Amino acid sequence: MATVKVGINGYGTIGKRVADAVRKQKDMEVVGIVKAHPNYETRMAVQKGFAVYAPAENVDLFKEAGIEPAGTVDDLIKEVDIMVDCTPGNVGQYYKDKYQAAGVKAIFEGGEEHSLTGVSFNSTANYQESWGVQFSRVVSCNTTALLRTLGPLDKAFRIESAYVTIIRRAADPGDSKTGPVNGLEPSVRLPTHHGPDVQSVMPWLNITTMAVKVSTTLMHVQTVVAKLGRDATTEEVLAVLRAAPRVRLVKAADGIKSTNQIMEMARDLGRDRSDMYEIVVWEEGVKVVGDTLYYYQAVHQESDVIPENVDCIRAMCKMADGPASVAQTNQALGIDH
Ligand SMILES: NC(=O)c1ccc[n+]([C@@H]2O[C@H](COP(=O)([O-])OP(=O)(O)OC[C@H]3O[C@@H](n4cnc5c(N)ncnc54)[C@H](OP(=O)(O)O)[C@@H]3O)[C@@H](O)[C@H]2O)c1
Repeated sequence: MATVKVGINGYGTIGKRVADAVRKQKDMEVVGIVKAHPNYETRMAVQKGFAVYAPAENVDLFKEAGIEPAGTVDDLIKEVDIMVDCTPGNVGQYYKDKYQAAGVKAIFEGGEEHSLTGVSFNSTANYQESWGVQFSRVVSCNTTALLRTLGPLDKAFRIESAYVTIIRRAADPGDSKTGPVNGLEPSVRLPTHHGPDVQSVMPWLNITTMAVKVSTTLMHVQTVVAKLGRDATTEEVLAVLRAAPRVRLVKAADGIKSTNQIMEMARDLGRDRSDMYEIVVWEEGVKVVGDTLYYYQAVHQESDVIPENVDCIRAMCKMADGPASVAQTNQALGIDH
């Protein structure tokens, strides 16, 4: 079977991970990546053997830096079946017009609004909605995390309402442009956008969110309080979470009490860039009282959306059904279930 030809526009935190993840799949290939400026990441992409393309207006910058681009963004668009657009938020409309004109499919990321594509994606909650579409959007890291656990819990217990507080990392580890570096910064526009973003995939879910930015770069933590449709036991909930795709249960009693210890475990797993693709739930932190469920989960913001991007390519290019794609992606990326 011919492999699907993928281009990646934007080679930052998300784009470079998507490029490596796509390269690991047997049924797709990376035709090229787009980097806006020449720097060490651009040289690394060349070293890894990716064909590097540049925005037309920056081609001279690349040449001056000693990097010969394989072509412009427009050239790459002509060579692919699908683009994964990992440019910064709000650049999407500019590129969508180009993809549309070329008749090429494209995936956008969580920095874009749902309205850009009209379809948003999560591998287990709504895979089928992106089947064959020209444009879809893989929701943000926090939204992906909430869907990973609330999706299966809603199927099992029918959630009546969910209240979530997101304790957000201030910046990605490689960033030096955002903060706070020594403070806690509540999002004062309430409720925050995360609830409606979850509803772009599960419109029926009654969910309300708040968020506080904190001075850490490793992970987000989410605290969830959900009213279930019936009384349940903690064990029943744990059984659902254990079976949920891309959810990993850890124990504080085992020495994993904090996000830095989760990332230490991720380093020990030996995956690319020490990524933790799964949403991590503290087992002892799951508690049901009557019909009210409480839990905490940790989110590796740089990588939880990576397997979803691979699955979204399969859905949009009609390559495999949801469970088959999830299994295939998991196997290629070393995710247990
Ligand atoms: N970082 C996260 O934790 C995270 C998690 C989930 C989803 N997302 C979403 O993923 C998307 C990408 O975020 P990111 O964190 O990966 O951003 P990033 O690290 O800032 O990377 C953005 C990339 O896009 C390139 N770029 C910038 N302007 C461009 C343009 N006009 N045309 C083509 N390429 C351009 C940049 O190149 P230069 O560096 O050369 O300028 C860089 O390679 C956003 O929608 C974001 O909301 C991010």
